[in-house]
Amino acid sequence: MIRFEFRKAAKEDIPNLIKLCRETIVEVYGQILPWEKLVPWVEGDMVEVEVNKQWQNMIVAEKAGEVVGVAARSDDKIDLLWVHPAYHRRGIGSALLDVVETEIKKSGCDLATLECFSYNDCAMGFYLAKGWKPLCEEMDEDAGALKVVMTKTLTKDADGVSIRKEGASKKL
Ligand SMILES: CC(C)(COP(=O)(O)OP(=O)(O)OC[C@H]1O[C@@H](n2cnc3c(N)ncnc32)[C@H](O)[C@@H]1OP(=O)(O)O)[C@@H](O)C(=O)NCCC(=O)NCCS
Repeated sequence: MIRFEFRKAAKEDIPNLIKLCRETIVEVYGQILPWEKLVPWVEGDMVEVEVNKQWQNMIVAEKAGEVVGVAARSDDKIDLLWVHPAYHRRGIGSALLDVVETEIKKSGCDLATLECFSYNDCAMGFYLAKGWKPLCEEMDEDAGALKVVMTKTLTKDADGVSIRKEGASKKL
């Protein structure tokens, strides 16, 4: 059985995180956002800049030394939740979401928030399935696309990580 491990990101993960983010942007956001808005991320150095700035806040999902997913939060907000397209629908997104929801709850916040592009059907389906509720829709002028603000009330049983199909271990 292949196992996934969930742990805080380390500096050595930076090249793998950059690769994961770049590949996810091209495959997922290439379908959703105007191409000119993606150029600085795909052809420029925006991914490198952001990963170097944010890696210390990141949680990674790893399989046999490969980073296959990443999540990050600040205060009550989930800033990032990306699973490599080759690993979708294996429970990795759910497990990463559990980790960041648990962190938010432990920090004393009962209400978590995030933003998701309205036409990101895959992510919208995921968040709705995980108990998130749309609050309002607004225009993201920087990205040139509508986004949905979503919230979730974190209950006591929102604790812990679960994963199906390939098993998991957690080191945090
Ligand atoms: C959204 C995302 C994180 C989900 O991760 P994942 O590991 O594929 O999700 P899981 O396997 O944990 O899915 C859990 C449940 O969510 C729902 N779900 C997941 N993907 C879905 C999809 N494409 N359409 C509808 N529902 C979906 C299902 O109910 C699924 O359970 P099931 O597989 O038993 O049917 C992943 O698709 C992703 O990284 N997408 C690209 C980046 C992105 O859009 N991130 C969110 C930015 S706001």
